[in-house]
Amino acid sequence: MKRILVTGGTGYIGSHTVIELLRRDYEIDILDNLFNSKITVLDKIEKISGKRPNFHKIDLLDFEKTEELFKNNQYDLVMHFAGLKAVGESVEKPLKYYENNVGGTINLLKCMQKYDVNKIIFSSSATVYGEQPIPKLDETMPTGMGITNPYGETKHIIEEILKDVVESDNKFEAVILRYFNPVGNHPSGLIGEDPNDIPNNLMPIIMKVSRGEIKELSVYGDDYPTLDGSGVRDFIHVVDLARGHVAAIDKMKPGVLIYNLGTGKGTSVFEMIKAFEKASGKKLPYKVVGRRAGDLAEMFADPSKAEKELGWKTELTVEDAMRDTINYLNNL
Ligand SMILES: NC(=O)c1ccc[n+]([C@@H]2O[C@H](COP(=O)([O-])OP(=O)(O)OC[C@H]3O[C@@H](n4cnc5c(N)ncnc54)[C@H](O)[C@@H]3O)[C@@H](O)[C@H]2O)c1
Repeated sequence: MKRILVTGGTGYIGSHTVIELLRRDYEIDILDNLFNSKITVLDKIEKISGKRPNFHKIDLLDFEKTEELFKNNQYDLVMHFAGLKAVGESVEKPLKYYENNVGGTINLLKCMQKYDVNKIIFSSSATVYGEQPIPKLDETMPTGMGITNPYGETKHIIEEILKDVVESDNKFEAVILRYFNPVGNHPSGLIGEDPNDIPNNLMPIIMKVSRGEIKELSVYGDDYPTLDGSGVRDFIHVVDLARGHVAAIDKMKPGVLIYNLGTGKGTSVFEMIKAFEKASGKKLPYKVVGRRAGDLAEMFADPSKAEKELGWKTELTVEDAMRDTINYLNNL
């Protein structure tokens, strides 16, 4: 297998994965509409890897252009990162999220089937687990119940679509990767997460607070039944996450494979603040506000299936992520 189409490949996780793929000599084409990323990412990828991926500025909602791409190029595999991901915005504009994420995926799958591209690796999220009775989440748990926002629903719907496509077409191979909470960036400090709009994930907010663009960090609740009262999540370094995709390629086979990509360890919001302060040597202003509707106290991955079947496990720590984030911030 040689040539991979990476949708959303100029985005945060996509660009880190492209670097890992180029290191292993895959030929990469990126499809992105640049809605939430910048074309200059290509220069940075080239600087880091010494190779420049092919780039196609295409919106997946534009069926004709997407089809033309498949008509003119032969791909062995698609890695599908393209999607909108702002949870809060998805509550305000649900149709935009369903149209872009679900509609875009349907267009992509139609083109893949038409041009006989039978392998897809999809960026899903731990959000598909909804609310569970225990915080350690494994792939055997039911999904789709208690999802609290349209963004999460789109991930669940796309997972179901992929299962149905595979069911109907025995040549089709799908890998669903359920990410926990990606943080950090490439150690070069050249690429990282730089959202165009107001972020609602912890690390991008911490970054904006440290640069003075947001006055203080809001900690949503300090009265959860956790070690220090703040919410606990499984923060995975984006480079580890990217390597998880590479590990999945070789294990693909007809059918659907589902893996959690997480560290298996929970870290609280207060611990993240302390880790950032330690790495930067700066105080991070924050205030505790009320709990946010729909937030769970604690969740983290059981990553043992990925370790056993893909031979993959995380190697980097929250401290590594903080060091790399500060390096990236200093380069901005
Ligand atoms: N970052 C996270 O915390 C997280 C967690 C779980 C899952 N995910 C999923 O991983 C994927 C990548 O996330 P990310 O953090 O890199 O996000 P990102 O916004 O940095 O990257 C997504 C890319 O997709 C592009 N895109 C969006 N809609 C498109 C369309 N219709 N056509 C073409 N390009 C389009 C954007 O321009 C962007 O470059 C997303 O599907 C996201 O939902 C992310």
